Amino acid sequence: MLNPVIISVGIAALAVFYYFQNKDISMSYKIEKILLLSFEDYKQNGWPYDVYGPISHSHRNMPRSGQPLGWIIVDTIDTLMLTYNYTQNDATKKKLLKNIEFIENWIENELDYNMDSEVNVFETTIRMLGGLLSGYYLSTQVEVGNPAVYFLKAVDLADRLALSFSNSPSGIPYSSVNLKTGEAIKNHVDNGASSTAEFTTLQLEFKYLASISGNKTYWTLAEQVYEPLYKVNDILNQYDGLVPIYTLPDTAQFWGQNIRFGSRGDSFYEYLLKQYLLTHEQTYYQLYRSAIDGMKKHLVKRSYPSGLTYIAEKPYGLNGLTSSKMDHLVCFMGGLLAMGATEGYTIKEARSMDFWDSDREDDWILAMQLTHTCYQMYHQLPAGLSPEIVVFNYPESERNQYEQISDTERISWWTSPTEDFFVKPLDGHNLQRPETVESIMFMYHLSNDTTYREWGEEILGNFEKNTAVKRNGRVEAYTSLNDCMHVPTSKRDNMESFWLAETLKYLYLLFQDNVNLHEIVFNTEAHPFPVLDKAKMDRLNLTTEWSLN
Ligand SMILES: *[C@@H]1O[C@H](CO)[C@@H](O)[C@H](O)[C@H]1NC(C)=O
Ligand SMILES: *[C@@H]1O[C@H](CO)[C@@H](O)[C@H](O)[C@H]1NC(C)=O
Ligand SMILES: *[C@@H]1O[C@H](CO)[C@@H](O)[C@H](O)[C@H]1NC(C)=O
Ligand SMILES: *[C@@H]1O[C@H](CO)[C@@H](O)[C@H](O)[C@H]1NC(C)=O
Repeated sequence: MLNPVIISVGIAALAVFYYFQNKDISMSYKIEKILLLSFEDYKQNGWPYDVYGPISHSHRNMPRSGQPLGWIIVDTIDTLMLTYNYTQNDATKKKLLKNIEFIENWIENELDYNMDSEVNVFETTIRMLGGLLSGYYLSTQVEVGNPAVYFLKAVDLADRLALSFSNSPSGIPYSSVNLKTGEAIKNHVDNGASSTAEFTTLQLEFKYLASISGNKTYWTLAEQVYEPLYKVNDILNQYDGLVPIYTLPDTAQFWGQNIRFGSRGDSFYEYLLKQYLLTHEQTYYQLYRSAIDGMKKHLVKRSYPSGLTYIAEKPYGLNGLTSSKMDHLVCFMGGLLAMGATEGYTIKEARSMDFWDSDREDDWILAMQLTHTCYQMYHQLPAGLSPEIVVFNYPESERNQYEQISDTERISWWTSPTEDFFVKPLDGHNLQRPETVESIMFMYHLSNDTTYREWGEEILGNFEKNTAVKRNGRVEAYTSLNDCMHVPTSKRDNMESFWLAETLKYLYLLFQDNVNLHEIVFNTEAHPFPVLDKAKMDRLNLTTEWSLN
């Protein structure tokens, strides 16, 4: 007779074996549950408002008109669709379908962009137009959704946003527009300057829309910003391909000297590469190349004592002192450099292709190093999650090249266990941002190195453990943190739309096997668009009509 103890041990061993065999499936299932829980909590307690606090269930809309823009709703639809495509769990699939239909019905029948309200052109383009366009794209690919709903709403919104270009003598749009009257409005502060990254982060959306609508005006408007920007400021010679973070829209002249890959600078660089990946036009690869070469020359530094690679800032121009501060936002750069090097092929494939060269090899190494640094910004924190901004330590011998940190100031800062970086008291919050898991997702698929899945699993576990909103011991939602330096963590009453649009999407894609990175390009809000078909571009006369020569 078989001993029941042996039988149960045997079953347990089998279960453990099965678990490790199916680790990626179980990670997928875990993320599906978090996604559904977060979304359904919002649906129940925050719908259809733009801003939602999952602790108090407070909610409001962003525009002064009081009507919703669909900030969380439109941003989330494609995450639900992608998950619907990949899930292997029937119950999950049914729930996703119900939510997708619910959203689609709201977009078709309730969402009305004819609102007398001023909106930020960049944010509304990347989140709302981007969300609608990828809703359109995915509903043509995956067996869910009605493409016409997303297409019509995208055209309606884009025609309103396009009016932001209308008053500017240089062709660079003003930073805001009234969605009803079409009035273009300059930034109310910073001398009316637009953020350089804002008007250079509309191009993927407008170019993709031009290709599906056949209306070339979208393409032309989006592209017209580059010629004045590059020529008026002589970017390649005066700035080594880099850009200060503010530009005066009327003249295209830079305003101030602050150069960084963090906020207001970041996606300028991202969209140079991504336009190349979307259309394969060499001009944009060349502009990207010059920016990356400038970055390597002026901004790439190593921390003391362990030599973590990071991207520094030049607040007083390229010849001024360096600031060793880095925003978490900069952490998208690992993934971007890796995509620029490989164009979405695996590193093994890419190294044997005609385009491979020493610059790309160097970009790839840098991509690995930066992603490792960003992982350390999670791993070394007590909450296992990254703060919004860190300041890297530098060797005493290089002190005169940096903006100096006084010893009295430093005493109040949190110091990482390896002493490679510090966190200032006001910079310790975590907004559930995506950039590090974004880079980890790209690095995994391009390298096939399972270390990246381990890092993703660790970070996901820390989000689960330290951002959960619990009532009577039950997890009800996930939210932002006031600081990552103390556990148990102090929660902040706000769920950012990019938790659903980006962070959970990239984490989910990290654990899927068939992700074709050379066929899709993600906009800066993680909304996927397909690489444009060359024959179709030719037919529609969609081509770049400016050059630096
Ligand atoms: C849908 O999932 C399959 C694998 O199950 C994958 O090959 C395909 O690329 C996915 N489609 C999209 C649009 O992501
Ligand atoms: C093309 O797009 C522009 C910009 O929004 C718009 O003004 C124009 O009416 C559109 N043309 C057509 C034929 O729809
Ligand atoms: C990725 O690595 C696994 C082993 O970890 C291997 O079985 C698989 O074939 C590799 N895939 C590619 C595309 O290289
Ligand atoms: C393509 O666009 C350019 C610039 O707008 C124009 O000069 C040219 O005539 C167009 N070609 C066709 C075939 O429409």
